[in-house]
Amino acid sequence: MTGNWLLVLSIVFTVHMAHGCPQKCLCHMASKTADCKNRGFTEIPAHLPPETQILLLQNNRIWRINQNAFTRTPLLKILDLSNNSLSSFAPGALQKLRYLQVLNLTRNLIHYIENKTFSFLPHLKELDLSSNSIVRLPETFGNSTGNITLLSVKHNKLQKMERVLLESLPNLKVVLFKDNPWLCNCNVFGLKLWLESFLYRGGISDGIICATPGIRKGKDLLKVPYELFGACPLTTAHTHLATTHHHSFEHRSSLKHSHHNEHGENSRLSCEPKPKPRPVNLRHAIATVVITGVVCGIVCLMMLAAAVYGCAYAAITAKYHKEHLAPARQHGTPEEKEPFDSSLA
Ligand SMILES: *[C@@H]1O[C@H](CO)[C@@H](O)[C@H](O)[C@H]1NC(C)=O
Ligand SMILES: *[C@@H]1O[C@H](CO)[C@@H](O)[C@H](O)[C@H]1NC(C)=O
Ligand SMILES: *[C@@H]1O[C@H](CO)[C@@H](O)[C@H](O)[C@H]1NC(C)=O
Ligand SMILES: *[C@@H]1O[C@H](CO)[C@@H](O)[C@H](O)[C@H]1NC(C)=O
Ligand SMILES: *[C@@H]1O[C@H](CO)[C@@H](O)[C@H](O)[C@H]1NC(C)=O
Repeated sequence: MTGNWLLVLSIVFTVHMAHGCPQKCLCHMASKTADCKNRGFTEIPAHLPPETQILLLQNNRIWRINQNAFTRTPLLKILDLSNNSLSSFAPGALQKLRYLQVLNLTRNLIHYIENKTFSFLPHLKELDLSSNSIVRLPETFGNSTGNITLLSVKHNKLQKMERVLLESLPNLKVVLFKDNPWLCNCNVFGLKLWLESFLYRGGISDGIICATPGIRKGKDLLKVPYELFGACPLTTAHTHLATTHHHSFEHRSSLKHSHHNEHGENSRLSCEPKPKPRPVNLRHAIATVVITGVVCGIVCLMMLAAAVYGCAYAAITAKYHKEHLAPARQHGTPEEKEPFDSSLA
């Protein structure tokens, strides 16, 4: 019995030795977890057990990820690198992680996300990029990140986000945008329409609060009226409208407005906020007042004519009644005639 136990123990020990576990980490074979958090690491520790599926590296000072950092742990499903000092990734550093489902990069020093950083992660479901200094996201994460259900870019320095990027994530359920200096000019129009459609489909989001331009600071993008985008190039508005399923009056009116500005098609620069909507609105207001006045006038005239006609008719009828029917009254039924007569009096 004890012999068997010793055998088992020695096997476990040798397996443990063979696969190794970095000295400062705790490796849990049953849960395939390597717990290396809070250990002052400055790089991804080497010699992790190859079967590791959960790698906890939060609260360290890791500042770079070598290209080969994860070649020995290709089965990772959860990688927590939150609260480190990462500012960039070596190209292809994450590309070996074909089974990665959760990647937590919150609280790092990331400025840019290169085009292909998250490509080749076909099983990625949750990507937390919050609390970094990201100013730019790629147009798309890549053609194999379609399974992402949660994306957080909270608390970064994003002014804009390509609608194409969000559209390349068809399984998205939760997207967190808060605390970014969103620029609410024409370029944000596509994002607004995407967000509306996303929420309509039951998606969850904390919304986009505009930071610039000044007049829209603090405003919820969803509440910025469509008229604002009247001065936007038609292509921007039109292509976005074509792909959205909402066809409310507001959308139509914005489309109508953009027809006035067809000439601005190619110039992205003409997209900067113009004080144009106001005159357009004013003109519309004046037109509305004029039309209302004309319609009211016509209605009033018709009512007047009707009243005059009614009075004349009543007077003539009364006269006729007095002249021709008065004698018949004595024999007729007074209770029938009474209301008619009294109304004339
Ligand atoms: C982040 O990590 C540092 C150690 O590198 C630790 O002192 C600090 O408490 C951590 N912050 C949070 C919010 O966990
Ligand atoms: C990432 O880690 C932070 C704590 O460091 C946690 O609050 C957050 O929920 C994690 N994000 C995801 C997507 O699990
Ligand atoms: C990233 O992709 C965009 C368009 O998809 C392209 O314009 C840009 O040059 C690319 N950047 C790099 C560094 O490859
Ligand atoms: C991603 O797209 C590129 C071309 O854009 C293609 O070469 C590559 O095979 C695609 N990768 C996957 C996993 O579909
Ligand atoms: C999503 O994950 C499934 C397996 O869970 C995989 O077969 C599929 O290729 C993934 N989709 C994309 C777009 O990567």
